[in-house]
Amino acid sequence: MTETAVKRAPGRGRFITFEGGEGSGKSTQIKTLAERLAAAKLRAIVTREPGGSPGAEVIRHLVLSGMGKLLGPDAETLLFAAARDDHVRTVIQPALNQGIWVLCDRFSDSTRAYQGRLGQVLPAVMNAMERVTIGDLKPDLTIILDVPAEIGMQRAAKRRGAGVPDRFEAEDLKFHQDLRDAYRQIAVSDPQRCVLIDATAPADTVAANVWSALRDHLFAMTNTAHSA
Ligand code: TYD
Repeated sequence: MTETAVKRAPGRGRFITFEGGEGSGKSTQIKTLAERLAAAKLRAIVTREPGGSPGAEVIRHLVLSGMGKLLGPDAETLLFAAARDDHVRTVIQPALNQGIWVLCDRFSDSTRAYQGRLGQVLPAVMNAMERVTIGDLKPDLTIILDVPAEIGMQRAAKRRGAGVPDRFEAEDLKFHQDLRDAYRQIAVSDPQRCVLIDATAPADTVAANVWSALRDHLFAMTNTAHSA
């Protein structure tokens, strides 16, 4: 990333990220939220990581094929970081600067959970990469969809059908249990930004909880802005 201006905190657009393990239902919930925002006449884009921009989609292909794993945890993390750098610079920040909301399927918490906690990439490395790729850009709200690993893996297998599991879907149950634990810890460590939602409930119930988290959170932000 070259322009420091790009790294500033979001302006008028809101930045909402969705996180969770495999089969937690992020795609469904993002789609529903995008529809609700459109109905409320708010401009929003839906994007994802790894990927979301042409350059980052190339890296997505590389990482999910398992190529990155062969290079080791640090190099694989660098690939996610390179993809994020392009995505933030060319898609996320320009949209936020124009007042457009950005709903992103996975962001830096995925790197913290998958590579930091499970890949055991050192915190100093993670911090340095975050400084370069996202600077001060922090999601306004992160929805963490929480589901037991067994259920998430079953859902992911059903969705995949006869397809081959990708790099992370192929990991064992213990990996996915630790992943869930990592996300729950992230939620506890940053309660102002993160809302943990039970994703074993029916999709409509989860959607209602996502909406009320958004409403509560944005109301709190507005109050803060007024009292500042
Ligand atoms: P994807 O097919 O988008 O999975 P999901 O539907 O679960 O979001 O694949 C993305 C995979 O990449 C997913 O297993 C999580 C992993 N990932 C990381 O390990 N680190 C990251 O920083 C990101 C963004 C994703």
